[in-house]
Amino acid sequence: MVGLGPKHPPSRKGSMHDVPQDLLQHVKEFETVFTVDRAKLKSIVDRFIVELEAGLAADGANIPMNVTWVMDFPDGNEQGTFLALDMGGTNLRVCEITLTKQKGGFDITQSKYKMPEELKTGTADELWNYIADCLEQFLHTHHEGENLHSLPLGFTFSYPAQQDYIDHGILQRWTKGFDIDGVEGHDVVPPLEAVLKKRGLPIKVAALINDTTGTLIASAYTDTAVKIGAIFGTGVNAAYMDNVGSIPKIAHLGLPADMPIAINCEYGAFDNERKVLPFSKYDEIIDRDSPRPGQQAFEKMTAGLYLGEIFRLALLDLHDSNPGLIFGKQDISKLRKSYLLDASFLAAIEEDPFENLSETADLLEKELGICATLAELEMIRRLAELIGTRAARISACGIAAICKKKQMQTCHVGADGSVFTKYPHFKVRGAQALREILDWAPQDKDKVEILAAEDGSGVGAALIAALTLKRVKAGNLAGIRNVDTMNTLL
Ligand code: BGC
Repeated sequence: MVGLGPKHPPSRKGSMHDVPQDLLQHVKEFETVFTVDRAKLKSIVDRFIVELEAGLAADGANIPMNVTWVMDFPDGNEQGTFLALDMGGTNLRVCEITLTKQKGGFDITQSKYKMPEELKTGTADELWNYIADCLEQFLHTHHEGENLHSLPLGFTFSYPAQQDYIDHGILQRWTKGFDIDGVEGHDVVPPLEAVLKKRGLPIKVAALINDTTGTLIASAYTDTAVKIGAIFGTGVNAAYMDNVGSIPKIAHLGLPADMPIAINCEYGAFDNERKVLPFSKYDEIIDRDSPRPGQQAFEKMTAGLYLGEIFRLALLDLHDSNPGLIFGKQDISKLRKSYLLDASFLAAIEEDPFENLSETADLLEKELGICATLAELEMIRRLAELIGTRAARISACGIAAICKKKQMQTCHVGADGSVFTKYPHFKVRGAQALREILDWAPQDKDKVEILAAEDGSGVGAALIAALTLKRVKAGNLAGIRNVDTMNTLL
């Protein structure tokens, strides 16, 4: 490399120059554990398609394939003002979105509220009241003194919910470390509406939305080649547009077979039966110690919530199983703390541009109180690469499975989530895995492209609320529960 100053030193990606033989042997073991070759990727995808089909065939399958009652892509002429509430894992975001007269145009005002950690394992009442507090504060800040008529709300609730209607959703199970009593198995819309009513807030739920469906619709709004919306973040999942005729579990409703309908796959649950994914002993520990053992197997291998923990467990195992091999006699008690490291720790290691891995060294000292030798740093860098690469390659299997199932040779995928947007090399590694799975010729450009999405949980939620009201107006009431409420919003 020529002309690179000290700020851009050459990367020493994968370099193992300084690693002595005994440590190198363990690095090789990690390579065996975390490497997923092309044949394995293909067998994961084959099994994935079987599970996607099973979810469409009947309720209660491993991958739920939830029908969302989102039945159209926007045409760019949607209009109106909508509230969007995004209950993500870390923040709660409230947006007001005005879809303007200009085709495809919108204005957005938004506020973010930190989701207190204790809320995730608190009570249902605390959750609904916290959400109402945020909405109340938002209206207070942006509409003080105004006499507001009913505002339609798109509620982005990014957990698996079975939807018999678009304004309804029974939480199937909490994911992403949430564990709030008394919500699973219940419709989440009525308790939210009750708390809004109690406070006299002029807000009505027009649609309950998954972040993947919002991402699909928001991305398709600006790019008609988008056929899949995916999240690679704290959790993982995707949504795509299917047609009623391919969904045997709703055949009894007698809807036209060619009617489009978006499916929220909830494929974080892929392979809960453990038939094909290459589980390591670290994956087993994560599952065992999670609030929901046996669930979200695919998510626990690929999502941001778990990457740092997989890394911590592997490093700790190496230390404890080989006394004296790494970190000398240093106190490693911090490394024993579960979930101390998140995916950004791994990302920072993979991004360290310095030949001597000095940023990694600083990070280890700061976060773990450990002084590492260059050999140890090289091993750590390789371990981070292996875990990040495994996550990207396995993540690609879900997208490939949808494409193969729908026989889509080419398409765009609108993608969002912290791992997709922030984890170094995730996109390139995922694209390489798609190439291997889908057998593109070396000279072919990527036929399935995973691209940064539009704001699914904000704009996507507003668009879905708008599409729902448009449907009510046109008299297409399939999948609408509360027609009277919807009419008040028209
Ligand atoms: C949830 C999905 C969500 C995904 C990404 C998963 O844990 O079950 O509903 O789409 O995370 O946020």
